[in-house]
Amino acid sequence: MVISDLQLKQCLKEFATPLYIYDANLIKKRYQQLYKWIPYKKLQIYYAMKANYNLHILRLLEKEGSCIDAVSPGDIYLALKAGFSKIRILFTANKISDEEMHEVAKLDVLFNIGSLSRLEKFGKAYPGREVCIRFNPDVIAGEHEFIRTGGEASKFGIFLEKVDLVLEIAEKYKLKIVGIHEHTGSGIPEIVQMQKGMRNILGIITIERFPYLRFVDFGGGFKVPYHLDEKKVDYSKFGEEVTELFTGFCKLFGRDLEMYFEPGKLLVAESGKLLVTATTLKENPGKKIVGVNSGFSQLIRPMFYQAYHHLRNLSNPNGKLKIYDIVGNICESGDCFAVDRELPEIREGDILAIKTAGAYCYSMGSVYNMRPMPSEVMIVDGKIRLIRRGLSNEELAKKIVNEC
Ligand code: LLP
Repeated sequence: MVISDLQLKQCLKEFATPLYIYDANLIKKRYQQLYKWIPYKKLQIYYAMKANYNLHILRLLEKEGSCIDAVSPGDIYLALKAGFSKIRILFTANKISDEEMHEVAKLDVLFNIGSLSRLEKFGKAYPGREVCIRFNPDVIAGEHEFIRTGGEASKFGIFLEKVDLVLEIAEKYKLKIVGIHEHTGSGIPEIVQMQKGMRNILGIITIERFPYLRFVDFGGGFKVPYHLDEKKVDYSKFGEEVTELFTGFCKLFGRDLEMYFEPGKLLVAESGKLLVTATTLKENPGKKIVGVNSGFSQLIRPMFYQAYHHLRNLSNPNGKLKIYDIVGNICESGDCFAVDRELPEIREGDILAIKTAGAYCYSMGSVYNMRPMPSEVMIVDGKIRLIRRGLSNEELAKKIVNEC
């Protein structure tokens, strides 16, 4: 465990639950590990900021040298505020409106376009510009069906067979294709699936087709373990193999290209925890139900993707093991963090830690049922820092009144 129980207890003295806690050193470590695992000399990491957009996490990764995978104009404004210059941001434009296209074009950030119709509109409005093209890797992989982005059913990316149509549009508007992109899915369990997507994309790239090409971006999808006994994917083996693959490809292509990856989960998931308090014990026939002071509005992955998040009872770690459903405080029956989970006896007032909550947890949160999002703290070199203050209930109500 990276954040010690002592540090968690210290946080609880200073802050109330629910509370998000992140470990800055682990985020840095994962970022640096990627460069060790993938020894390709022209590697660049683009952090997928949708995973966790806390300003302090963005700043930390900015200092490390990361670039940004942004998916909305809002992402771009925030990344700029965090200190990323526009040339360190790639905008993956998914189903954008014309207004959004013009807004981002003014900011002069590179577009990653994944549909022929948007490419046509972009070319017409901004002839001669540089652009990156997102292709569908034609591989179906990822830890849940909602987060698989390849294959025929996917709304993402241009089909590989349509490469000639891409070239026609680019030619018509003198667009310079400087990047090719693919993203297969999130939490890909096997490195061979990631590598298959990479090979498929490389299969359509030649210097005759893409004379201006500077980089190939292979998206995110690195899997992190959510179960305690889960086998870690061997990313150093992956890194060596893809370095060999890409180096060989560049020889054929005729020039050394940059290789990008866009991890979200890998960089931040394991760094985070959500601490909650058991508020209500309930005994149904054949079931022990523990209600806590948080819910799917603050951490939706278990409900949305049936995702497993490990839970610990920090207040009674040596208690007698019992089987519980751990449910949230939102007025919906599906609001559940864990079903039939064995945990040391839980008493009202006990603090539970929900593990691996650094990616797509706070960032997918909302104030549904009018509960403010929790505060976020970060442990930086052993020190506890408040990195975002949650609103009080009253402040949230006032904010909404002010917005109306
Ligand atoms: N690049 C693109 C174009 C993406 O769509 C994504 C994630 C990433 C990179 C980063 O993927 P990662 O390395 O984090 O797997 N909310 C879901 C995950 C959604 C991923 C969406 N796209 C979850 O909680 O599992």
